[in-house]
Amino acid sequence: MKRKTDSPSSGTAGEKSRRLRISDFLRIVPDREKMIGESSSEDPKPSGSYRANALAAVLHPGIQYLKVAERRDLSDTVSLFTLVPDTERGTARLAPFGAGSCISVRIRKDGCTYRRPYSICSSPGDALPSREGGRFTSGTYRIAVKREKSGTVSEHIHAEWKPGTPVEASEPFGELLYEPLRDAKDVICIAGGIGITPFISMIKAITEGTEDFRLTLLYGIRTENDILFRNELEAASADGRIKTVFVLSDSETPGFEHGLVGAGIIRKYAPADGRNYSVFACGPRAMYGHLEKELKSLGIRRKFMRFEVSGEMHDPDAEEDYTAPDSDGFTIKVVSGGQTRSIRCGSKETLLHAMERSGIDAPSRCRSGECGFCHSRLISGEYYTPSRNDRRREADRKYGYLHPCCTFPLSDMEIDVPPPGGRC
Ligand code: FES
Repeated sequence: MKRKTDSPSSGTAGEKSRRLRISDFLRIVPDREKMIGESSSEDPKPSGSYRANALAAVLHPGIQYLKVAERRDLSDTVSLFTLVPDTERGTARLAPFGAGSCISVRIRKDGCTYRRPYSICSSPGDALPSREGGRFTSGTYRIAVKREKSGTVSEHIHAEWKPGTPVEASEPFGELLYEPLRDAKDVICIAGGIGITPFISMIKAITEGTEDFRLTLLYGIRTENDILFRNELEAASADGRIKTVFVLSDSETPGFEHGLVGAGIIRKYAPADGRNYSVFACGPRAMYGHLEKELKSLGIRRKFMRFEVSGEMHDPDAEEDYTAPDSDGFTIKVVSGGQTRSIRCGSKETLLHAMERSGIDAPSRCRSGECGFCHSRLISGEYYTPSRNDRRREADRKYGYLHPCCTFPLSDMEIDVPPPGGRC
């Protein structure tokens, strides 16, 4: 048998590290500077022609120019919008997304700019362009928008959006995504009301083969009449990996569960053989407080829980550690884009909301502390951030950065807010 011999580059890690000299590292920068100095000043090819850059531009376009292709009313308060790329304004194709993602929509109203996140409820495959019978078809996103009482953006969308309306949106983002390395193969999805939308996308992704897990949907609504996407849900139940359970809070109807989704109902529909399962939830914030306690009582590990948190922050009074300041509001000095403006912010209003209301174009996406897109610098003042929304890095806390979307003032403040630039 031929004996394997060491090549000149082989050796133990200890031998290798002994052969590396510090002078090799010290030469890296001067050597690179020398090479850069000797290179041609002419760009060998435009940066967009590098495949990595072209891919990055598709995945992270910063802003997507879309238009409404179709509108369908799902109920008195919920409408479904189909959005397609607006090639005339420069978007040739949609950014791809994973099932469970959101887009942030930007609208302008009365001189103010507002953004709101909406979950995409179509399948990831629908966003891809295709060629059918020799005809090119651009991709689509679908979002369902519920008209909220005193909801500035949702009211505007319901009043204004019709086929042909131009729409500006961010690239897709979000954390409510199935990750096979982290999540269990069985997922219990808990939806409250309009929170059904990301799960419609997941169900479509499973039936089309782009996701592979077993999904049990516990869909909480008040009455049978409030069920959205009923036809899609019933059709999907033909796939053995998908099961839908309707849970009616306000009526007892044969064939439906009754009450709130809690430990009892989750246990009833969890895998019977004791396998691990993940729990994904999307719905009103009040539902999360209840669910957290229920999931804890079931002993579900934190890594198997995922809550969709994108959406507006409301009254901080609901937080146990919040002490309301003795004031109706504060003056916030906002430094942004080389200008300084003083605005008023209610004591129970987020800094982001006050800026939008005052006509300052401040960046945001998730509006709940998760994405970091609104990251701004505190110059002075006191504030409160609910601990459940405080996803800042330790370094950000230490060096005085905050997320205006989930920050409530406790005094007059001064903050430095980066303008959104070309991003939506
Ligand atoms: S908008 Fe996402 S952290 Fe503020």
